[in-house]
Amino acid sequence: MATEIPLWAPDITDAEIQSVGDALRSGQLSLGRYTHLFEHTVSQRVGRSHGVAVASGTAALHTVLVGLGVGPGDDVITSPFAFIANANAIIYTGARPVFVDIDRTSGNLDPQRVEEAITERTKVILATETFGNPTSIDALESLAQRHEVPLVEVACEAFGAVHKGRAVGSFGRASVFGFRPNKQITCAEGGMIVTDDDRLAAICRSLRDQGRPVELEPADPVHADAMLQHERLGFNYRMSELNAALGLAQMQRLDEILVRRREVACMYIDKLMEFPELVLPTIGPDTEMSWFVFAVRLSDPYGQKERDRITTGMRRHDVGAGNGFPPIHLQPFYRQHYGYARGDFPNAESIAARTIALPFFTRLDATQIELVTLTLQVMLQRESLLRPESEA
Ligand SMILES: Cc1ncc(COP(=O)(O)O)c(C=O)c1O
Repeated sequence: MATEIPLWAPDITDAEIQSVGDALRSGQLSLGRYTHLFEHTVSQRVGRSHGVAVASGTAALHTVLVGLGVGPGDDVITSPFAFIANANAIIYTGARPVFVDIDRTSGNLDPQRVEEAITERTKVILATETFGNPTSIDALESLAQRHEVPLVEVACEAFGAVHKGRAVGSFGRASVFGFRPNKQITCAEGGMIVTDDDRLAAICRSLRDQGRPVELEPADPVHADAMLQHERLGFNYRMSELNAALGLAQMQRLDEILVRRREVACMYIDKLMEFPELVLPTIGPDTEMSWFVFAVRLSDPYGQKERDRITTGMRRHDVGAGNGFPPIHLQPFYRQHYGYARGDFPNAESIAARTIALPFFTRLDATQIELVTLTLQVMLQRESLLRPESEA
């Protein structure tokens, strides 16, 4: 039988199936009890007063940026080494994404470079915790406060992480989560904005629901009238009750899931630490990582050509290795419309070219990890044989 080890897989049990079934039977399929409970559970977990659940992480990004008043003529500082949705959401508002190069160790925005890039046009700093690593988010928060520019923490990949004793999701003016099936916990599709800012939360609630003024229970006598009022240009970014019910059941298993993912990451580290060709994830002393992916990096003599051969080779052997993400500024749309070119952000380019994401999910077992690491070892040996003698 062929061994197929996917890159990622959601962890769904009978509890999630039961919860979604209960939501279906409840009769209220949108903006009901499950959405409120899910918002409450997530915001409590990270210590924020409000949670606003939306249809995706991208919708959360767009909503919070509009809620903060970002629009045409504004700049938003962001990382070129992140999922493309971050920069796209900035463009949806009419603002311009301003990329700043990353720190080579953490893969996150380099605070010093961010500080140098701030101008009068800078409306927001959008900082991602790449692969679940929150390193420097506190430094970015302090510099944002110093410059009086709101920081939005893009915590989509880092739910459950802790940095300097603070939960990820508690930094900056607002934080954003995404709950696709590849994330630590999933709603199938979904996202959330969390914040302590009452006004921002109210605006985001309104924006997600076609700009309606308030959310009232259907039993409230003014509900029907309020539903016909649209105070601002809103969107349909509502999360369904089914998605919220799934997310709520996952929240109840969050700690178990995080522990298991840490165990899987430790098994990988044990196996791979002796591989001289690999740079393993570096986690700062004040950081409790939340493992989103297990991404390793080829050491310097290797480049994109070798990385691509290795990941393709692994996939040929039924091991779902991935290439992380190519830098946003080199994506065709960004090259074409913003004139970016290779060499603009050397750290992001160099890290992106050498990143290998290994299969990573809660139920990955020791035998599968053995198979993944053996396959990777064979691919690395093949690369060393292919290298000319002078380079070896
Ligand atoms: C850093 C980052 N930003 C944005 C998103 C977008 O979230 P979604 O796919 O739920 O729209 C994700 C996750 O997919 C992400 O990891």
